[in-house]
Amino acid sequence: MNEALRRLLNLPPQASTIARDVDYLHYFVIGTTMLGAVFVAALAAYYLLRHRESVSKNQPAPADTRKSHTTGATPLWLEWSIIVGLLVLFCGWWVLGFRQYVRMQIAPDGALTIYVTGKKWMWTFMYADGTASNGILYVPEDQPVKLVMSSRDVIHSFFVPAFRIKQDVVPGRTTTTWFEATDPGTYPIFCAEYCGTGHSTMRAQVVVLSHEDYERHLEHTPPPDLPGPAETEPGLVGRVPPSALSLAEMGQRVAVYQGCLRCHSADGSPHIGPTWVGLYGSTISLEGGGEVLVDEAFMTESMMDPLAAVHRGYPRVMPSYQGLLSVAEVGALIEYMKRLRTAPAEVEPAPLPLAPAEVELEGVAP
Ligand code: CUA
Repeated sequence: MNEALRRLLNLPPQASTIARDVDYLHYFVIGTTMLGAVFVAALAAYYLLRHRESVSKNQPAPADTRKSHTTGATPLWLEWSIIVGLLVLFCGWWVLGFRQYVRMQIAPDGALTIYVTGKKWMWTFMYADGTASNGILYVPEDQPVKLVMSSRDVIHSFFVPAFRIKQDVVPGRTTTTWFEATDPGTYPIFCAEYCGTGHSTMRAQVVVLSHEDYERHLEHTPPPDLPGPAETEPGLVGRVPPSALSLAEMGQRVAVYQGCLRCHSADGSPHIGPTWVGLYGSTISLEGGGEVLVDEAFMTESMMDPLAAVHRGYPRVMPSYQGLLSVAEVGALIEYMKRLRTAPAEVEPAPLPLAPAEVELEGVAP
């Protein structure tokens, strides 16, 4: 049934854990609206036929027949049943959609985090081990993957039809989405927000690897041929050679180079700003009331617009890093802070600042 409807509606394969549920909601919406349309059309046809004669005779119908047509008031119970029925339908619809929305928005704990950069007109992916790839997103099957995304220029939208996920990617902000791929293969990624003349070419692909292939991939051997359409866009240059550093190590260098550690400590001691030890994943109180969970989105906001929400008890002195940190550097800093979440304050001498050219993390030409 599911397969028949999927083919009938010409939907792409269901290659993630949520795809089927999204489709069920889709079938439900289409089915309900079709039923409604058929009902209205049938009712119209019925009245058209029933009252055809009195009109076609081209003479006024007898007064009593006309009266009988207009005075047939709907019984009260029927009116209320229709109103309540529609309300129940509406609420049920909303509950179904809302539960799915929440499930699609909140990544499960322990998801693999990958940083996504959108720019005119390509997608770049950065992995926690310090590797990066352009145009090809490598993920293991049966493993939740959380995408932390931002844009370098304009609004893009990350869309994987086979996974039924679509999320705007906004400059200066971090948005997230997640998926768990169920079948090895390659699936197209599109940009679903008009972003300029190259919008239609802003494509990439997800390569879902089985666990063995993924292990092999992590050891930097090329993956085997997979079923699915292979993208051959000129922008897809494939994997960027791995750098010697993990993303967290790069983040540490960025923190030194950008001067973050002049105000934030990495050993747990308070300073001008809050220490980074244990900061990620904690809930902090804000100046002016309220609390906030320190996650990727909040950390990005704090870097780009520090005064929007200030940690209680700290001075309002942090400058904005808008335009000073690339998306990849923000991702690296977040990975570094994540490491400081669990590790006890490891007091190691901060590495020497690198020349700017060496800190360039993109690994790809802009
Ligand atoms: Cu990026 Cu459209």
